[in-house]
Amino acid sequence: MGLNVFVLTGAGISAESGLGTFRDASGIWTQYDLSEVATPEGFARDPAKVRAFYNARRANLAGAAPNAAHLALARLQKGLVARGGRLFLCTQNVDDLHEQGGCSDVVHMHGQLGITRCHGCGATWPDSEPLSGETACARCGETGTARPHVVWFGETPLFLHGIEDALEDSDLFVAIGTSGAVYPAAGLVAWARRLGIRTCELNLEPSDNARVFDERRYGPATEVVPTWVDEVLGGQGAR
Ligand code: APR
Repeated sequence: MGLNVFVLTGAGISAESGLGTFRDASGIWTQYDLSEVATPEGFARDPAKVRAFYNARRANLAGAAPNAAHLALARLQKGLVARGGRLFLCTQNVDDLHEQGGCSDVVHMHGQLGITRCHGCGATWPDSEPLSGETACARCGETGTARPHVVWFGETPLFLHGIEDALEDSDLFVAIGTSGAVYPAAGLVAWARRLGIRTCELNLEPSDNARVFDERRYGPATEVVPTWVDEVLGGQGAR
């Protein structure tokens, strides 16, 4: 039986790919009012403003590439599987840099920027074009309903049952590049501890729940994550 590792990532793992974080000094939420661009109420008030916010992020993502931390997690996934274990990668990020970096079966609990959703009937479709109020939903035919398939504040995160099941079947829980500010993601480490699972934080600086972790390592993800992956795979009898 191999090692089962649960990794939760946040915006910090994509920071060195040029994508903004939310709560750092120049974070996205210091530039935008989240109630206006990341809530259903904000979308109802001014859908064009919300679409413009996400179109700018889609354009930014188009020019981004996975970094050494994303690539290291792909190496970890392959290495764990080769040894009879598995990586359960749950991300709060709406970018696709984990997939671009070679990871598969990525769970996006806050949705995905590269998917458009009809706010009317819930239909979703892959979309790299700018969001538009003119787009007609292919399922219900409504226009004016196109939104990003991203979980807004006040909405329910995705895949929670699968996340809970995977955590219960894990030997190690690792949080990478997240401030621990948003629940239920931020509550996973306490749940892991209650389950008797070893916990580790890999971050630029201590997160809001740093004290809950058994182990903590600080530094840029592109340095800390590859080193940590080498240790995990080396400890597994490197092949
Ligand atoms: N390497 C590692 N960690 C980094 C780096 C880096 N290069 N740069 C920043 N960080 C860390 C910061 O120290 C911070 O703890 O990444 C974390 C980013 O925290 P947030 O900006 O709060 O992002 P995140 O935790 O992903 O936010 C969670 O909040 O707004 C919602 O839905 C949004 O998914 C997001 C959720």
